[in-house]
Amino acid sequence: MNLKQTTKIYIAGHRGMVGSAIWRALESKGYSNLIGKTSAELDLRNQQAVTNFYKKEQPEVVIDAAAKVGGILANNDFPYQFLMENMLIQNNLIDGAHKAGVDKFIFLGSSCIYPKFAPQPLKEEYLLTDSLEPTNEWYAIAKITGVKACQAIRKQYNKDYVSLMPTNLYGYFDNFDLQSSHVLPAMLRKFHEAKINKHSDVTLWGSGTPMREFLFVEDLAAAVVYALENNLPEHLYNIGTGKDITIKELADTIQKITGHRGNILWDASKPDGTPRKLMDISKMKDIGWEYSTELEEGIEKTYQWFLDNIDKIKEIKL
Ligand SMILES: NC(=O)c1ccc[n+]([C@@H]2O[C@H](COP(=O)([O-])OP(=O)(O)OC[C@H]3O[C@@H](n4cnc5c(N)ncnc54)[C@H](OP(=O)(O)O)[C@@H]3O)[C@@H](O)[C@H]2O)c1
Repeated sequence: MNLKQTTKIYIAGHRGMVGSAIWRALESKGYSNLIGKTSAELDLRNQQAVTNFYKKEQPEVVIDAAAKVGGILANNDFPYQFLMENMLIQNNLIDGAHKAGVDKFIFLGSSCIYPKFAPQPLKEEYLLTDSLEPTNEWYAIAKITGVKACQAIRKQYNKDYVSLMPTNLYGYFDNFDLQSSHVLPAMLRKFHEAKINKHSDVTLWGSGTPMREFLFVEDLAAAVVYALENNLPEHLYNIGTGKDITIKELADTIQKITGHRGNILWDASKPDGTPRKLMDISKMKDIGWEYSTELEEGIEKTYQWFLDNIDKIKEIKL
């Protein structure tokens, strides 16, 4: 379908880090018919509520940025919620959209859908070729069923249902709660607080040796807009930078940006997770999309946002 500025676009999870970035990106390009519902207004785990919503609102395009997300510990402690709530949310959204006649759907997953020891960089074709990382397999399996549901609708009904798999994201409206956050925002907060606390030591999880790739969330939003404005020829695309760094290098970068001058200690009793996770981004590059924000620039912007919003962050997330 050809998108118009008046096309009715529903962004599920529009208050989250990813959903809000997509909302801003669409708004700044002049799309004026966007809909969003908070989880209090519409609990996406409730099939009847989602069916009623589709019937009433009749969106033409749906972007699924709603999910129960969390770091290694949260995934490990709440396996059933990470599996079941994510399956309920995405099943209701995907099947509801299909039944309501939505022709274009974007499903967001993550790089954890790929096997733990798949060759690097991770190509889309490695999906389901080996076992997953055990600490987040619950979440990964839910996401894989979402990818397969969209692929099946595409194959059977010839609709434009596409799955985008972003690498680790960071940026505005991230979760800075140390119990449930991802590595980059957790580090930003730890270094910031240690700086305020007379440059006290910062203790970080794991060995510092795993390698990770990070994408600024505004760049992911640009990729989603690209996928909306173009009919992508395949069902699954990785979204990343194609470049990774060690967790230790990340810590050094964040330490420099925050201006912390104390020691960094590594708590090796905490899990490292997958040794390396780098996306192969050539499929997306081949069809004309690439990231634009380098890591240091993105972290600087995020740190500035963190400083500007520190009171709000504490109210909302802690
Ligand atoms: N963050 C990352 O590093 C990362 C990396 C790769 C992929 N992704 C993917 O991006 C997507 C969004 O992640 P995010 O980081 O933006 O997460 P987030 O900030 O936690 O936002 C999640 C959103 O989902 C909504 N939600 C959760 N449960 C819901 C329910 N039962 N009913 C209705 N809405 C519900 C929340 O709505 P309310 O705010 O109204 O409660 C929230 O807006 C996920 O699919 C994730 O896999 C994220």
